[in-house]
Amino acid sequence: MDNSDARLIEKITSLKNAKNAIILAHNYQLGEIQDIADFVGDSLELSQKAAGTNADVIVFCGVKFMAETAAILCPEKTVLLPDTHAGCPMADMVTVKRLREEKKRHPNATVVCYVNSTAAVKAESDVCCTSANAVRIVEKLTAAEEILFIPDQYLGNYVASKTGRNMILWPGFCPTHVRIQPQDISRLKAEHPQAKALVHPECRPEVIALADAVLSTGGMVRFARETEAEEMIIGTEMGITHRLRKENPGKRFIPASEQAVCPRMKLITLETVLWSLEQMTHQIRIPERTRLKAKTAVDKMLEVV
Ligand code: 13P
Ligand code: SF4
Repeated sequence: MDNSDARLIEKITSLKNAKNAIILAHNYQLGEIQDIADFVGDSLELSQKAAGTNADVIVFCGVKFMAETAAILCPEKTVLLPDTHAGCPMADMVTVKRLREEKKRHPNATVVCYVNSTAAVKAESDVCCTSANAVRIVEKLTAAEEILFIPDQYLGNYVASKTGRNMILWPGFCPTHVRIQPQDISRLKAEHPQAKALVHPECRPEVIALADAVLSTGGMVRFARETEAEEMIIGTEMGITHRLRKENPGKRFIPASEQAVCPRMKLITLETVLWSLEQMTHQIRIPERTRLKAKTAVDKMLEVV
């Protein structure tokens, strides 16, 4: 760490203490952000942490839908997103208008909404899920129900394959995960025959078919800790390798593709975190009617976990 980083971290820590703030960071954040965070986790773990914290201020180091989920759950807290441009492109692939049209076409469908979506879209949905609990959530729905899964077609397809349920899939996708190609996994498996391939369910089905385990980012962290395997091919956004290497110094983690970088996640830096705490910006505010409707869908998800 250089001196200027150390100075930034000192200022962040003292402001954080003065304002009774907590820093929550997603597993894809830059290493220096993961290192200063009070908690690092996947989308589900971060929403659970936000729901349970006593802090007055949550500095959310992740993308906007994650900060919105915290704001949905904690209306009395100030939720800060250090950079307003840190949005998830997949979340913008479904709009309220288009979802309402689709719901009219399938009036009996239960809408299962991946948390990678806006608060307004969650408010139009029946139940949320993350990659960690999507299979369990869909398994809980009664077999008679028609399911409309939004917005990730690949997570939806994976859940349908695991549950045997017939699901209507929204055509959204993650621009970062689709960069991982099946040939990346095959080549790395040939080069590292002992390695286990862990992939995120946002990957294409052809990639998922080659995996030894399909896991949320939190699931990958646990798998890496518990497995006897010493080498792992990591089929998700590369930022997670910082945490995997830090927590498992004796093991080797090979990114499935150097292309798997989420540019929006990387907008959060030590500078923007400090700015955010100094200026108390950018505050995530959700209109109360939307928040209450979205909270019903998020709460239903949290009950299942
Ligand atoms: P996780 O919930 O597995 O952390 O995934 C979030 C995400 O945005 C994946 O691209
Ligand atoms: Fe969204 Fe993909 Fe980035 Fe996750 S990795 S935040 S799904 S764009």
